[in-house]
Amino acid sequence: MTDTFIDQIGRICESATDYTKAAQQVCAALREGVKHYTWVGIYMLDATRETLLLEAWDGPAPTQHVKIGLGEGICGLAAREGKTIIVPDVRKDPRYLECFLATRAEIVVPIMHDGRVLGEIDIDSDLTAAFGETDQFFLEWCADRLARLFTCHGKPRPAV
Ligand code: SME
Repeated sequence: MTDTFIDQIGRICESATDYTKAAQQVCAALREGVKHYTWVGIYMLDATRETLLLEAWDGPAPTQHVKIGLGEGICGLAAREGKTIIVPDVRKDPRYLECFLATRAEIVVPIMHDGRVLGEIDIDSDLTAAFGETDQFFLEWCADRLARLFTCHGKPRPAV
């Protein structure tokens, strides 16, 4: 990850006024910017806090999993636990909900605010064991930027 690329993600989140548009731009930037990110999505918890809804995505094909219950699949689990989950080989993980035949690895990073889960970044890779500590650290930073943007949406940007 280069500084320019990281700055690009930061700028999208800092200059955005529309959360959905920014989420879409972040998905596209992540997928274009990192070779092993094959499919990138952002899910947000709905008002019941029991269901994740697909807010934005970028990848070769749409997923049929546009709604995921809390606790279901890797996405639902990460949202319930409020913790990043890395699956090195989805074929060996019975919790995994299949979307694409070519997927081998997945990382799901919660978007948190004040200890509460707002949503998550979900990334699939066609490479086995594609995700490591660098991805986790970088994506948790992205999730933090998205959380700030989401919680400021509709309100004036705070002066910092
Ligand atoms: N594989 C996810 C479902 C979402 S798709 O990857 C887009 C899961 O196990 O929760």
